[in-house]
Amino acid sequence: MKRVTIRVPATTANLGPGFDAFGCALSLYTDVTFEETDSGLEITGCDEEFTGPDNLAYASFCAVMDSMSEQVKGVKIHIDASIPVCRGLGSSAALLVAGAMGANVLHGNKLSIQGLLNITNAMEGHPDNLAPAFYGGLTASMVDNGLPVTVNFPLHPDWEILAMIPDFNLSTTLARSVLPNELSRADAIYNIAHGAMVLKALELGDEKLLRSAMQDRLHQGYRKHLITDFEKIEALVRTMGAAFCLSGAGPTLLCITRNKNVREQLEAKLPTITQADWELIPLHVEFQGARVIE
Ligand code: HSE
Repeated sequence: MKRVTIRVPATTANLGPGFDAFGCALSLYTDVTFEETDSGLEITGCDEEFTGPDNLAYASFCAVMDSMSEQVKGVKIHIDASIPVCRGLGSSAALLVAGAMGANVLHGNKLSIQGLLNITNAMEGHPDNLAPAFYGGLTASMVDNGLPVTVNFPLHPDWEILAMIPDFNLSTTLARSVLPNELSRADAIYNIAHGAMVLKALELGDEKLLRSAMQDRLHQGYRKHLITDFEKIEALVRTMGAAFCLSGAGPTLLCITRNKNVREQLEAKLPTITQADWELIPLHVEFQGARVIE
């Protein structure tokens, strides 16, 4: 096979207290086509600034080829991305996953998904977006002896995830630079307890439990000043009885609910309380991870 298209789901990392550990795949996608050629690199479908050899899809394609001792002669890459860039919905992870899977599929699927996760995690630094992008559904990951270990958790199928995506972006580097290097024992305990409860609430479909469990002391409080009207939007979502969190490093905010009326209420009220332009996109959990579509 000389040409393949890989579809990768968007992902939301952290889910409140599960900082750098929890992640969930969502029903928004980036498709990347790889076609091997005799020489050169051609990347289309993205801004000019991302068409060089540091493009993440190309970088992970090359990393996987290298690990299989295959030579990259030339490749054409076309990116068709519905996942918005730098918004906390796993756009970078999607490119890394697509490149890794593309190279593997074109060369006989020599590596397992775990093998591809190992390689991409070494490039990205934390597996919370990569793991759900590869496996789908709700995942928790840890890094043990330098290698990522991931488990999937059961998830109630009825959750609606309302992604509020602003018209500004936020770099993950900036959003990590505001975090303290040390934390108190009380805050560590708070997040461990809340994290365990989040997983159970998501499994049971227990919205009341999720609303109180989905709170965090490791990152959201430090990051909220980077996001216009974070506190107003959190208050609005909580008034509606839904759960609220920052998606990944932001700036996208999530309202998670099983109440079908919340979407309409949020659509009506959100523009009246904020100064930025927020696009509300209704999503659901994607239970299938990255896959070949062509
Ligand atoms: N867990 C990461 C963070 C997600 O919150 O910084 C972004 O890659």
